[in-house]
Amino acid sequence: MTAEDTPAAGLRGNLVSYGDDEFALFLRKAFIKGAGYTDDVLDRPVVGIVNTGSGFNPCHGNMPQLIEAVKRGVMLDGGFPVEFPTISLHESFSHPTSMFLRNLMAMDTEEMIRALPVDAVVLIGGCDKTVPAQLMGAASAGKPAVQLVTGSMLTGSYRGRTVGACTDCRAFWGRFRAGELDESEIGDVNGRLVGSVGTCSVAGTASTMACVAEAAGIALPGSATPPAVTADRMRIAERTGRRAVALTRDGLTVDRILTPAAFENALRVVLALGGSTNALVHLAAVAGRLGYRMDLDAFDRMSRQTPVLVDLKPAGEHYMEDLHRAGGVPRLLHELRDLLDLDALTVTGRTLGEELDDAPAPFEQDVIRPLGSPIHPGSGLAVLRGNLAPGGALIKQAAASPRLVEHRGRAVVFEDAADLARRIDDEDLDVTADDILVLKNIGPLGAPGMPEAGYIPIPRKLARQGVKDMVRISDGRMSGTAAGTIVLHVSPEAALGGTLAHVRNGDTIRLSVSERTLHLDVGDDELAERARLSPVSAPPTPARGYARLFTEQVTQAEEGVDFRFLQAETFRGSVPRTR
Ligand code: FES
Ligand code: MG
Repeated sequence: MTAEDTPAAGLRGNLVSYGDDEFALFLRKAFIKGAGYTDDVLDRPVVGIVNTGSGFNPCHGNMPQLIEAVKRGVMLDGGFPVEFPTISLHESFSHPTSMFLRNLMAMDTEEMIRALPVDAVVLIGGCDKTVPAQLMGAASAGKPAVQLVTGSMLTGSYRGRTVGACTDCRAFWGRFRAGELDESEIGDVNGRLVGSVGTCSVAGTASTMACVAEAAGIALPGSATPPAVTADRMRIAERTGRRAVALTRDGLTVDRILTPAAFENALRVVLALGGSTNALVHLAAVAGRLGYRMDLDAFDRMSRQTPVLVDLKPAGEHYMEDLHRAGGVPRLLHELRDLLDLDALTVTGRTLGEELDDAPAPFEQDVIRPLGSPIHPGSGLAVLRGNLAPGGALIKQAAASPRLVEHRGRAVVFEDAADLARRIDDEDLDVTADDILVLKNIGPLGAPGMPEAGYIPIPRKLARQGVKDMVRISDGRMSGTAAGTIVLHVSPEAALGGTLAHVRNGDTIRLSVSERTLHLDVGDDELAERARLSPVSAPPTPARGYARLFTEQVTQAEEGVDFRFLQAETFRGSVPRTR
């Protein structure tokens, strides 16, 4: 494709029709002059820059500088940069959950890209749900797009020890609950966990999705890991702006980049990173926008052949800034080269293989291991099935306790998040370290919005005895920054009448990660009887607004928790492809 093939429409694109296009253009010129521009900008390709800055989103706190750098890049190459806002979501400031609002952000992103006269867009996101929402929206909008992430925060230091959000947030909070830290110590820790603006500094969802975007070729090579406040990050932003101008000419729409090959490369990277379980949900949603369905069993086979190579918290020891210094995603892709589809086209207009051929030469470092000497031999994420999860469930084996991944135990059941909050620390709770904690009704529909409540706390009385991990099972999610033997995304969820709804205190549950099974030792007849005696009624549909839309349209975890009516109409195949 050449520059002549698809001339950019510039500000003459997407004219508002008053039944008179000439008049519409006349008005547009008048307003652009009112904004202080000359007519000259009308003849330039327009690069939209999606601004997700918000006072409620410290993970995007470098947005003004990033926008300035992207604009500079766009202007260096002759484009007209125009920023516009969309919704911004931060994990800690989004009620009831950021996941509940992700699809709203995706709709906002899609419709604004479609509505505005932009020839290409730079999507600037970072915090957990924002990159997924932007990729979902841009995939549906059908215009050329490139992802730019805000970058990770700097780490902090507590009593000589490096700390960062939010694996350490959880670890210190666990120690505080166990009485190992007092009020003043936990207060001191609180001021040191978040070293600067930027996204969480471990392999949580934000970092995972940043690496996913680069591996899938929708973000520039080397763009995932530079920390938020560095010159590297600003130069990546400038280069992203320059590349976006080229995109206005070569017509590389998102569907041409996010192909099955790209999704497979992205999934490999999730696995090699020991990345967030949430990435599976988000990738299923993005894939669904383009007509692909996530095949969890094929993913599990891929997982068995893909070792964890990156020594990053929560599965390992390091932080994102260490991964960046070790060579970032290009170095990881170099190590994974034999497992990748190198013919995948990237947003640079070149294939992943061509980009890797030009990547910086590998050097000695201790964060990214070679294939032959992994952190974890394979199956960092495992897909479980059984009568308790016929639609599938997920466990992050790389962050689980080896002694618990084959376990049989007695169920201690909590009916929902409120029940859990009420009873988990009750001194009279009948629970031992060998029991299995089961939490119902935190699925896509149940909560609603599938909160990250799957990281069920260890009951305080056991925590005080030094218990650090137990098998925990729910239909919810957990933060990618968390660790433990935690079974998530149980499908169908309890609120839809899945087997999970009928688990009772004292039932025996068997977890075998090696066999990929999650089994409730209760016969089919007994389960049918329980379902008859206590039928599950779906949560009431809210009377109005977005909550109503959510309840009516939301899908299960394996379909990405997207809305049914936003998925592609035509099925194009499964990812990963079976080979
Ligand atoms: Fe934004 Fe962790 S809270 S990335
Ligand atoms: Mg998170």
